[in-house]
Amino acid sequence: FLRMSELVLAEKVVLIREDLNVPVKDGKITSDARLQASLPTIKLALEKGAAVIVCSHLGRPIEGKPESQYSLAPVADYLTDKLSTQIKQPVTLNSDYLSAGVTIQPGEVVLLENVRFNQGEKKNDAALAKAYAGLCDVFVMDAFGTAHRAQASTEGVTQAMRQAGKTVCAGPLLSAELDALTHALETPAQPMLAIVGGSKVSTKLEVLHSLAELCSQIIVGGGIANTFLAAQGHNVGASLYEADLLDTARDIMQKTEILLPEYVVVADKNEIDFADFTGSLQNAKATVKAVDAIASDDMILDIAPQSAEKLAEAIINAKTILWNGPVGVFEVDAFGAGTEILANAVKDSAGFSIAGGGDTLAAIDKYQVADGVSYMSTGGGAFLEFVEGKILPAVAALEV
Ligand code: 3PG
Repeated sequence: FLRMSELVLAEKVVLIREDLNVPVKDGKITSDARLQASLPTIKLALEKGAAVIVCSHLGRPIEGKPESQYSLAPVADYLTDKLSTQIKQPVTLNSDYLSAGVTIQPGEVVLLENVRFNQGEKKNDAALAKAYAGLCDVFVMDAFGTAHRAQASTEGVTQAMRQAGKTVCAGPLLSAELDALTHALETPAQPMLAIVGGSKVSTKLEVLHSLAELCSQIIVGGGIANTFLAAQGHNVGASLYEADLLDTARDIMQKTEILLPEYVVVADKNEIDFADFTGSLQNAKATVKAVDAIASDDMILDIAPQSAEKLAEAIINAKTILWNGPVGVFEVDAFGAGTEILANAVKDSAGFSIAGGGDTLAAIDKYQVADGVSYMSTGGGAFLEFVEGKILPAVAALEV
């Protein structure tokens, strides 16, 4: 497909679809990783002399019911701040673009209000896609994090642009994501190792099957590890695990080596308030136990340091490392050592490392290991679907 870097954009009105879906709490952006990743694309379009319209979704609002908690207003302020030397006037947030269009000059940036406020966005309505296409001369798909969704502002607008005989291309962020993931997955330097954490095997089942084909070893953590421990016959006490997936876990263990901890960190379930899980864990007692000594009230919440150090050796020796998901409740320091030790091993390993998913990026941030990670993906669901070998519809539309 065509890449934005190859195009002449002077005097053109360019619509860039970014994934600016960042966590916002009380009107404040709590992680700007995705915003930072989108800045080079917007800056490049400005340098090329374009008038730049940016669009994105934020969260999962009910369509047709704009709610201020899902407004991109904090993102407009963020962009104004970060682009201050490139733009003549602040980034404006435009909410009536479907009725009034967008008036814009080269060197300016307009941010469209949350596309999911528009009826038909999620079901990829053709008329809405056509309306987006009508706003611009060139459409740039740069939202890797949303490329697994065939929605009006991703796949639909791409088709509508083509029907109107207008140019569509991939933005630099999308191109970089696809290049890095292809590099890691198509011809991975061996041995390849994956770290897959998170609470449920069921959400990572397909990715575990795909990774089992590619990797010689997989480190599992969180609720996923508990399911594997249970599949091996260990009593996991009150830990989160999926009893109906024990056979699936055994199948995966036939295909590749699953590295499980010998020692874990547990808390007594009676000390935990499930309505305020991480809050209550701040005061819960953390105890290291062997995996064959778990009591019925114990909840496994992390890999113990002595086991994490052993797993770290495998990470250091790997030539390709793919990381998705923390291995413990790392938001609470008493249950974060496992994730911290593995994060540092990823940093220290000379292998090519690729990490994706919101929690994983938050852990990388917390333990300040970003410098040692070869590539950090902005994708969560899109990252997993790519690893699973699925076709991302918004990328496929660019390739037609
Ligand atoms: C994500 O955060 O994974 C993307 O922005 C997609 O969001 P969605 O799952 O609400 O479509």
